[in-house]
Amino acid sequence: MWTQPYDERRSFLIELRLDRELRRWITSTLKGPGAGSEIWTHAHVLGGRRQTLEVVDFFVPRLEMDQRQEVGRYYSELYARLYDEDIRMMAERQSQLDRARPRVAEDRESMVLGSLTEVRARLPITIEIGKRKFRIVETDGELIAYSTICPHLLGPLGESDVRDDIVECPWHGYRYDIRTGRCVSGANCALVPAPQVRVRQDSRVVLRF
Ligand code: FES
Repeated sequence: MWTQPYDERRSFLIELRLDRELRRWITSTLKGPGAGSEIWTHAHVLGGRRQTLEVVDFFVPRLEMDQRQEVGRYYSELYARLYDEDIRMMAERQSQLDRARPRVAEDRESMVLGSLTEVRARLPITIEIGKRKFRIVETDGELIAYSTICPHLLGPLGESDVRDDIVECPWHGYRYDIRTGRCVSGANCALVPAPQVRVRQDSRVVLRF
């Protein structure tokens, strides 16, 4: 993991352990600044699942007694700020992914892009349908559309080249197969479904949802 902008000197390795049964997660810094520290977060459900109380413990090694209060305050404030930012970011991420998810259309053929020759001459093409953005490229003689939004943290997939059907997000390096949408670099996420690109018998290129 790197701080942004990427800087090898400030890289650090963290381990996240999730214990669903006990509703807690433990973040341990294994290497880099703060190595040896751990943050234990317990979530307690209050009021019939509508509210949670989170209790956070910070374990910081090699601290003198007179440093504890100040370091504790620093960790608490930092944690609260990052937590609030995460909540906002995750809510925004979910709403963007929801918006990007195609609705089922009655009319399956949604858009004519032009003749095959014209379309090939304009590749790669980015199209916006409603609030959804897709990029169309040609790979192995086939036109493929894929979402330009990385499902990790909404990175811009439309800015990267496609190689062997794989597009890599410029932000954190997640890689996706543009044919299946699946993440091929180990993360449990996938691109939102894209329209199919079809070439009709009259050589017109159409998008089908
Ligand atoms: S936004 Fe993180 S890998 Fe794309």
